[in-house]
Amino acid sequence: MHQDVEKILLSQQALSQRVGELGEQITRDYAGRQVAVASVLRGSYIFMADLTRAIQLPITVDFMAVSSYGSGTVSSGQVEIKKDLSDPIEGKDLLLVEDILDSGNTLYYLVDVLRARKPASIRICTLLDKPERRAKPIQADYVGFQIPDAFVVGYGLDYDERYRNLPYIGVLRPEVYGG
Ligand code: IMP
Ligand code: MG
Repeated sequence: MHQDVEKILLSQQALSQRVGELGEQITRDYAGRQVAVASVLRGSYIFMADLTRAIQLPITVDFMAVSSYGSGTVSSGQVEIKKDLSDPIEGKDLLLVEDILDSGNTLYYLVDVLRARKPASIRICTLLDKPERRAKPIQADYVGFQIPDAFVVGYGLDYDERYRNLPYIGVLRPEVYGG
């Protein structure tokens, strides 16, 4: 375990099993359809790679990037699109993939922006959900794990752009971010 990690919350094995289950569920729910899977960089890059390989349907993948946290651990509430999707989504079944639904500021804003482009449907798949911290009325259609209010890193999630490559999800020691 990394020295800056207080404890492992979700092991590599737990992640792999749950991501497989989500893929099966999505495969069943969208049977016979083509899904436009879009993920929000950078936190969801590993989840996106594993989840899409667990979906047994014809899919397309696309990416967008938004600013959220800077180097802090608390959402600013200000969301800015830094990189937009490459392809139009009009008439498509859009599955938006996120690493974590925390305050909900990011997804609340994004869903609003994307809905205006008239997709046939929008659903949200988030690996992690911290329901206690929600500031906006938004929930995900697919949730990997509900987790308590602790700052976590690994499997794509960062603190100040570090720790994304840890293969598990762990709770960061508060000393590391001055908490
Ligand atoms: P929200 O807008 O507050 O829902 O935050 C969404 C974004 O905040 C996520 O996509 C993450 O990048 C970041 N975030 C929220 N909680 C954590 C955490 O515990 N660890 C790492 N990043 C987090
Ligand atoms: Mg982040």
